[in-house]
Amino acid sequence: MKHDRKVIVYIAQSVDGYIAKKDDDISWLSIVDAPGEDYGYGEFVENIDTVIMGRRTYEKVLSFGMEFPHKERKTYVLSNSKNGSDDNVEYYSGDVRELINTISSNSGKHIFVDGGAEVIKEFVRRDLIDEYVISTIPILIGNGVRLFKGTERENKLELVESNSFPSGLVQNRYKVVRGEDKQV
Ligand SMILES: NC(=O)c1ccc[n+]([C@@H]2O[C@H](COP(=O)([O-])OP(=O)(O)OC[C@H]3O[C@@H](n4cnc5c(N)ncnc54)[C@H](OP(=O)(O)O)[C@@H]3O)[C@@H](O)[C@H]2O)c1
Repeated sequence: MKHDRKVIVYIAQSVDGYIAKKDDDISWLSIVDAPGEDYGYGEFVENIDTVIMGRRTYEKVLSFGMEFPHKERKTYVLSNSKNGSDDNVEYYSGDVRELINTISSNSGKHIFVDGGAEVIKEFVRRDLIDEYVISTIPILIGNGVRLFKGTERENKLELVESNSFPSGLVQNRYKVVRGEDKQV
């Protein structure tokens, strides 16, 4: 049985379309930090119970030296160089469509595709994303890791919600428009 668990990309980019600098610096994200303002992230994570990220993003998260933020959730890290699991995550090297099919065969909350760009590219290429929440930070960073790498896939998107904040952050939520249910 297929359950209605959405696969959602929730990510921040610079105005010129990068999610990190060439050296993986993401400190520029903090220019929009404001007391009491989480840009809806807390509410978003309340509605997910599964996280998928790439090995490079996972290592970046670990480099902060804080407690892993998704301890209460099932987290898969895509990797062809690592396998098994650690205290926080399970490594996965198989077909991502099969992963989503397996997760979606059980009931639960939505599925967060955290990034980075390589993982998003694979999910877009396989047409597995249902929603994008993209926060655009008011900065040009000039180089780095592009949010969207070429996939040759066209997807029509419906803008569901758009909010701008005093910090200059603009957050858009898009639904992927499909003529019929996605092939899962
Ligand atoms: N701005 C934001 O909100 C945001 C969000 C997330 C990440 N980031 C940043 O983005 C950067 C990382 O992005 P990235 O695109 O370079 O790397 P990434 O997508 O995080 O990780 C790439 C790695 O994931 C594994 N992988 C990807 N697709 C796979 C597949 N289909 N099957 C098996 N393994 C797969 C491979 O690991 P192996 O090499 O181990 O095989 C690959 O080297 C970091 O700087 C991170 O901080 C920013």
